[in-house]
Amino acid sequence: MKTFFHVSDIGDLKAALEEAKQVKATPYAWKHLGVNKTIMLVFFNSSLRTRLSSQKAALNLGMDPIVLNIGQDSWKLETEMGVVMDGDKSEHLREAIPVMASYCDIIGVRSFAGLKDREYDYNETVLRQFIEYSGKPVISLESATVHPCQAFADLITIEEYRKTRRPKVVLTWAPHPRALPQAVPNSFAEWMNAADVDLVITHPHGYELDPKFTGGAVVEYDQMKALEGADFVYAKNWSCPGVTDPSQYGAILSKDMGWTVDARHMAVTNNAFFMHCLPVRRNMIVSDEVIDSPESLVIPEAANRVVSAQVVMKRMLEDLAK
Ligand code: CP
Repeated sequence: MKTFFHVSDIGDLKAALEEAKQVKATPYAWKHLGVNKTIMLVFFNSSLRTRLSSQKAALNLGMDPIVLNIGQDSWKLETEMGVVMDGDKSEHLREAIPVMASYCDIIGVRSFAGLKDREYDYNETVLRQFIEYSGKPVISLESATVHPCQAFADLITIEEYRKTRRPKVVLTWAPHPRALPQAVPNSFAEWMNAADVDLVITHPHGYELDPKFTGGAVVEYDQMKALEGADFVYAKNWSCPGVTDPSQYGAILSKDMGWTVDARHMAVTNNAFFMHCLPVRRNMIVSDEVIDSPESLVIPEAANRVVSAQVVMKRMLEDLAK
């Protein structure tokens, strides 16, 4: 595996879920694979889970992780080509990437969407430079449009808790005070479409996700109707994806607190489990009552971030050993 961005990168999903089960049961069984191997985890943005779970996964595999916080531990990096670098950015990605690559075997990158220029973000401009200039396997640790390690962990969690062969999974938009990227809902939709689940997406008008990720998923604008009979409720905020009107890209179109997932919403489900990628704003995205209920899976979901990262790194290490 040379890159991990999309569900297609993982190949057969059933095989990947089976591998995840083995990795979770015996996390140290592949420790030999990472001996004398280094993974560079590059963060342009804050993180708790991704940072820690990626390091833990690397350690489980015997690898040495190096974490670099761009702009804090390093020089501020310029990411756009052709600019006169007369501002506060001292180094260009064009040099920084091959330098970082010379110190490691695998690179993970967190680089959020700027939410200013849809084309720049949806072209994955930063991530593409890492692929082009590093020559190393590259993992998205949440880039402009995708968060595959999260979506894979979400699917592992659904696989562990599902009560029916083909559960109904509802991705619901929920309010948030700040404009957030679409990477989590994009990847969640992409992975659920590939999995053995029935996906329904619900959000206010104007928040339509890119069909590249949602495919043929049902979109229901009536949140309560969408939630009826759900087995899993996945809440997430995202800003306007600008699919029909790029000038609205990144805008907050609604702060309707009626969309906050609370007991009233959960009451119409099939005693659904509640999921969220975290960090979560309590009583904005979800009520205390729901997130603190026995049906809340947010902690096991976060714990599975180690498993998803480890499967991906394991496969990259196996390929490097060939
Ligand atoms: N879910 C997630 O990616 O968490 P962090 O932003 O804390 O890494």
